[in-house]
Amino acid sequence: MQQGTVILETERLLLRPFRVSDAEAAFRNWTNDPLVTRYLTWTPHEDVAFTRQLFQEWEEASARPDFYQWAIVWKESGEAVGSVSVTEQDLRVGRAQLGYCLSRALWGRGLMTEALNAVIDHLFSIGFERVEAVHAVENPASGRVMQKCGMSFEGVLRKYCRASTGELTDVCMRSILRGEWEGAPTKETIK
Ligand SMILES: CC(C)(COP(=O)(O)OP(=O)(O)OC[C@H]1O[C@@H](n2cnc3c(N)ncnc32)[C@H](O)[C@@H]1OP(=O)(O)O)[C@@H](O)C(=O)NCCC(=O)NCCS
Repeated sequence: MQQGTVILETERLLLRPFRVSDAEAAFRNWTNDPLVTRYLTWTPHEDVAFTRQLFQEWEEASARPDFYQWAIVWKESGEAVGSVSVTEQDLRVGRAQLGYCLSRALWGRGLMTEALNAVIDHLFSIGFERVEAVHAVENPASGRVMQKCGMSFEGVLRKYCRASTGELTDVCMRSILRGEWEGAPTKETIK
C-alpha cells in the first residue's frame, strides 16, 4: 500500500517532495502568514531558518515509503505555493487523513481542489480504502474544497483539534471511500 511521496502532475500543478531550496518561496508564500495558519495546528514561522530546518527534515523523510508530504508547485511561477500531506494513517483499515494549505495570493482559483483530487486518486490507486479530512467549523472554505472532491460530511467532532491559537476547536469530519471515488462522475462535474 505504501509508496511515499511520488510525483503527481495536474493541469496547473506539480506535486513533489519538498526540498530545502523551497524554503524561501514557502516562507514568502505561506509559512509566515497568520491568515493561512488561522485554522491550522501550527503557528506562522518566525524566520526562514525555521522553514529551512523543517524542509530539511521533510526532504530526508521523503525517502520513506510511509511519508506523504507534497510541495504544491504552481507551474506558472515554478514556485512552491502550498502543501498537501497525509497527517494520520491507519494501515489496518487503509485510512489516510489529509491536511493542506495554500498561499493566500492563490485562493479561490480551484487550485487546492485540483491538488486534492490528484492526491485522493493516488491514495486509492495504491490501496487506501478511506480518505478523510477535518476542518474547523469556522473554516467553510476548506469544507467546500472537500465537498468539491466528493467527500461526504460525517459529523462534527467536538474539541477534536488544538488550533494554533491554543484553543480546542470543533471540526467537521468528511471522507470518501474507494468505491465512491471509483464510481464518481468526472470530478469537474461535482457541485
Ligand atoms: C482552504 C484552502 C486550502 C482553499 O484553497 P483554494 O485553492 O482557495 O480552494 P478552491 O479554490 O479549490 O475552492 C474554495 C471554495 O471555497 C469557497 N469559499 C471560499 N470562502 C468561503 C466561505 N467563507 N464560505 C464558504 N465557501 C467559501 C470558494 O467559493 C470555493 O468554492 P466554489 O469553487 O464552489 O466557488 C485555502 O483557503 C487555504 O489554504 N486556507 C488556509 C489553510 C487551511 O485552512 N487549510 C485547510 C485546513 S482544514
